[in-house]
Amino acid sequence: MTQTVRGVISREKGEPVEVVEVVIPDPGAGEVVVDIIACGVCHTDLTYREGGINDEFPFLLGHEAAGTVESVGAGVTNVQAGDFVILNWRAVCGQCRACKRGRPHLCFDTFNAEQPMTLTDGTPLTPALGIGAFADKTLVHEGQCTKVDPAADPAVAGLLGCGVMAGIGAAINTGAVNRDDTVAVIGCGGVGDAAIAGAALVGARRIIAVDTDNKKLDWARGFGATHTINAKELDPVATIQDLTDGFGADVVIDAVGRPETWKQAFYARDLAGTVVLVGVPTPDMTLEMPLIDFFSRGGSLKSSWYGDCLPERDFPTLISLYLQGRLPLEKFVSERIGLEDIESAFHRMHAGEVLRSVVIL
Ligand SMILES: NC(=O)c1ccc[n+]([C@@H]2O[C@H](COP(=O)([O-])OP(=O)(O)OC[C@H]3O[C@@H](n4cnc5c(N)ncnc54)[C@H](O)[C@@H]3O)[C@@H](O)[C@H]2O)c1
Ligand SMILES: [Zn+2]
Ligand SMILES: [Zn+2]
Repeated sequence: MTQTVRGVISREKGEPVEVVEVVIPDPGAGEVVVDIIACGVCHTDLTYREGGINDEFPFLLGHEAAGTVESVGAGVTNVQAGDFVILNWRAVCGQCRACKRGRPHLCFDTFNAEQPMTLTDGTPLTPALGIGAFADKTLVHEGQCTKVDPAADPAVAGLLGCGVMAGIGAAINTGAVNRDDTVAVIGCGGVGDAAIAGAALVGARRIIAVDTDNKKLDWARGFGATHTINAKELDPVATIQDLTDGFGADVVIDAVGRPETWKQAFYARDLAGTVVLVGVPTPDMTLEMPLIDFFSRGGSLKSSWYGDCLPERDFPTLISLYLQGRLPLEKFVSERIGLEDIESAFHRMHAGEVLRSVVIL
């Protein structure tokens, strides 16, 4: 048995996305069909469309989603029909070398649904990040469903499934920002602002936001930035040092992911400080720097994949903090749109007009 629903696909590299009919199989062993309520538009969806991830077209896009479990396959115990869930792309396997060493947040073999979703002519679709939630329904592995408090607004909750979790986790998991730390965040889009919100949540003493767009800096203040720097007007490294008694910040987060912003992050930190790279560079980017600078400045240089999160640990807690008014996740939702508006949302994202457009289904 199958069912046919609306979904948004990227058929060919660089071509506008299309709303088409997508065939969803009944859930097999370990699989779950989720009725999607809301799904955010993330940069990664656009990167898929541009062929920047791989060339397994056609893609079923969308991956920052919340919804209700519709039906479950054999052996599913994690969730049941009617549960309100956030979808995740880290269903840990428990068996790979990272999991076996007690580091499941690094799992190298995460679960996805095994059966393909297809076009009506049988062409298999590649779901973005193993999710594919710009669709009325999607098929995922049970471990990709994290139950959270249904009192949460689905448009807000879904964002925790990717970019917002990546940013919060870059600060509090990867960067291990603590009470009394000074923090700088370069790039204040959805991910950077989430890093700011995370740093504020754990009590950072000073949070310096850097962007090239004053509107973004205004929004960053709303998430807890105590100081802002427009990188077009001021040198970010010297200004971050000025704002931290001449030393540099304890933790600097690069939420842009370019060689120049990473270098700024590297030199804007205090001796033995931490750099966290959460922005994603393109394969052509390279870095040339004096090796002695790495040695003499010490500290740690880290990358953050998905904020080093564990969905089962982190999503329910963050949703609870949001519902208590202690984490302003609702501010990430810039607009609510329909399935047919995704192409135009990519343009608004590119123009920096939104933090997140969220598709409501
Ligand atoms: N590591 C992960 O797991 C993960 C997960 C999701 C997204 N990401 C990545 O995080 C990055 C940010 O995502 P986003 O959704 O916030 O994107 P975004 O485009 O909304 O934000 C980027 C921000 O950087 C600013 N910017 C650009 N150049 C700058 C410069 N030279 N100096 C200072 N600011 C500059 C822009 O004005 C913008 O506000 C992307 O590379 C995205 O792919 C990583
Ligand atoms: Zn694993
Ligand atoms: Zn994403």
